[in-house]
Amino acid sequence: VSWDPRDPIAAKRDGRTVAADEIERLVADFTSGALGEGPMAAFLMAAVLQGMDSEETAAMTRAFVASGATVALGDVGRPVVDKHSTGGVADAVSLVFVPLVASLGLACVKISGRGLGHTGGTVDKLEAIPGFGVGRTIDEMRAQAAEIGCVIASQTSELVPADGMVYALRNATATVASIPLIAASVMSKKLAIGSDLIVLDVKAGSGTFMTDETAARALAEACLEIARAHGRRATAAVTDMSQPLGTTIGNALEVAEAIAVLKGGRPGRLRDLSVWLAARATALLCGSALEGAARRAASALEDGSALDAFRRLVVAQGGEGRVVDDPVGVLPAAPVRLPIVASASGCIVAIDAAAIGAAATVLGAGRHRKGAPIDPAVGIVLQAKVGDLVEEGEVIGEVHARSTDTAEQARAAVLAALRTDAEPVVPPQLVAASLGEAPA
Ligand code: URA
Repeated sequence: VSWDPRDPIAAKRDGRTVAADEIERLVADFTSGALGEGPMAAFLMAAVLQGMDSEETAAMTRAFVASGATVALGDVGRPVVDKHSTGGVADAVSLVFVPLVASLGLACVKISGRGLGHTGGTVDKLEAIPGFGVGRTIDEMRAQAAEIGCVIASQTSELVPADGMVYALRNATATVASIPLIAASVMSKKLAIGSDLIVLDVKAGSGTFMTDETAARALAEACLEIARAHGRRATAAVTDMSQPLGTTIGNALEVAEAIAVLKGGRPGRLRDLSVWLAARATALLCGSALEGAARRAASALEDGSALDAFRRLVVAQGGEGRVVDDPVGVLPAAPVRLPIVASASGCIVAIDAAAIGAAATVLGAGRHRKGAPIDPAVGIVLQAKVGDLVEEGEVIGEVHARSTDTAEQARAAVLAALRTDAEPVVPPQLVAASLGEAPA
């Protein structure tokens, strides 16, 4: 009997369950070109409005993975961890986490994206390092993982092509905002890499697309459910993105901040979250207690072993290894610098992460349109965090810009994104919830 794609579309439209093989067929036919964008968009909109249950979501994820190649890593000689962040502002965790876990005896092959809108992309950040190449074939990824324990590469067309095609259609049809669709998209890219553990950093707050913690937790649960359905180990944290995570927004600036953390000399939320996630990964994969794993992760930052792993990563991917010794000398720098000065005394009670990210985008650190160029040198330094007490006139940051004009614009936007109050507030918890597999 011939298959009519209108049947699953109508079923989803009317809130009925769609069989797994029908969802797989829709995705396969869309990817091959047998099904047009119209019917696929109609199905996606119905899925956004009616939701998808865990079996439908697992089926969509399976179809995405089946559309391309997978990376087998069973022979790299170390337990393999993969890590994903749902995206945020000043979120350079991957730049710290990947070499850190490699220095702790794990392997990590991290496929990363480019930034879009106000959130940054790991691949853009690394390209701020002269020579660093993010294009890696699957064979190159495997060889590099076996040799030095870590790889950070850009998404290739060989891996989960269906997700790329469906995501572009979702972007064009206002069908991105759906927990099951996001979960299937995120997890397909994780399942395509043969890791022993998937670590998910699900952000919650104004700087990401799950603005409240309940939605972020639901996304984390949906991702964990997909991992379970595919027999994969996974753990997740819901973490604060109501304010920028680190103290820099901008590609070269974030690389320099990550190097400072890797040198052990930069306390703060970027370090804390990187250590938290690395400790969880090593404890789960090595069967050790969490506390000891956290101590070992902190030591790897203090004793230079994580920094050495980062240097090896940079050199292996063609980058200038001297960047770890002299980030200021090697990384591109912006010609204009303007201090950011607190306009009122009191406690910082809110920092709108999305607005700070948008200000960095105005400077050229991010892009509004896929494929648009970015300026690696520009960005924002903002030392202030929610809960800090500041004095009017105190320097709390610095804008790095191409021109005085854009610098002033960005500075005004940063100041408008800060709220100060006489009443102090308690800083938001960095890790609001941990879900999935938990170490002892
Ligand atoms: N990131 C993804 O990879 N997919 C989505 O659908 C949303 C964010």
